[in-house]
Amino acid sequence: MATTGGATLEAKGLRAGFGAATVLHGVDVSVASGEVVAILGLNGAGKSVTLKVLAGLLPARGGSVRLDGEDITGISPEQRVSRGMGHVLQGRHVFGELSVEQNLRLGAYLLRRRDPSAYDGALAGVLDRFPRLAERRGQLAGSLSGGEQAMLAVGRALMGGPRIVLVDEPTAGLSPLVSAGLVDTLEATRETGVTMLLVEQNTRFALDLADRILVMRQGVVVHDASSDDVDHADLAELLGIGRLLTASVAGRVPTKVPGDTSPAAKRPPTKRQTASKKKAAAKKAPAKKKAAAKKASAKKAPARKKTVTKKAPAKRRATGR
Ligand SMILES: Nc1ncnc2c1ncn2[C@@H]1O[C@H](COP(=O)(O)OP(=O)(O)OP(=O)(O)O)[C@@H](O)[C@H]1O
Ligand SMILES: [Mg+2]
Repeated sequence: MATTGGATLEAKGLRAGFGAATVLHGVDVSVASGEVVAILGLNGAGKSVTLKVLAGLLPARGGSVRLDGEDITGISPEQRVSRGMGHVLQGRHVFGELSVEQNLRLGAYLLRRRDPSAYDGALAGVLDRFPRLAERRGQLAGSLSGGEQAMLAVGRALMGGPRIVLVDEPTAGLSPLVSAGLVDTLEATRETGVTMLLVEQNTRFALDLADRILVMRQGVVVHDASSDDVDHADLAELLGIGRLLTASVAGRVPTKVPGDTSPAAKRPPTKRQTASKKKAAAKKAPAKKKAAAKKASAKKAPARKKTVTKKAPAKRRATGR
């Protein structure tokens, strides 16, 4: 699963749709090498469609996509994979009638054609990263738990040694504990230098994992900010669900409340939760301390963008959609 550094991705003015309906109205997405960017947005905002256009699974009706500076707008999904793009689509799509290892082999299809000797190393790398998959190597993928299938889908995308991975809702439908484990795995994956663009409904996970957050509404990116510069309340506003839902949008991981004796409350904080606390503390810290925290986090985030807030197109603002 060796990676040779992360790829850069830059999409400008992406337009896409189905039949007479236009779904993307000029989406701009840029991800620097090694950066992790999360796209947030309500149901139907166009997040999955954006990833599909970037992966080449849906043609762009306008705009451009560049990978490492090269225009890839018109090339096939397979050609994108061979240039270092891996993806995990919404719903995961593992092949249930095939074993775990056979699923992983499919992920390495192009790698094996290019360099058959690289397969064993790639498989060892993924099984090392996902010990649960290693234990279940011969098991049918359809009989895996939801969390294990999510790991398999991510593992399969990593088999080709991608330099950028697009991941659509890796934690959807998973318990908080399993989701946290998967997020830790994605965090470990970023350490290999791979660039990541992910759609994540759980804003807490998105803020913990990503260097930068994009908020989509009605087929456009309306907000683009460093994850250090936004909090859950900001996000609730940006998502258009107001303050009332701030608490629920703040994530599905149970937070400890006084007198709570549930197993969740007794569980020690995960690495991710501890990191989240540190981040929150840094936010409250005086300017000097915050600058130091920023400097430290800048090391992991190669590119930080200034906050940009765009308005949704006037036509759809007027309809409230
Ligand atoms: N194959 C399709 N045919 C027609 N319309 C589609 C198709 N796929 C998506 N759409 C429409 O495009 C819009 C954006 O869909 P998309 O799947 O990108 O939403 P999303 O932001 O990923 O939402 P969710 O959080 O529910 O996954 C929706 O209105 C959806 O109905
Ligand atoms: Mg979606």
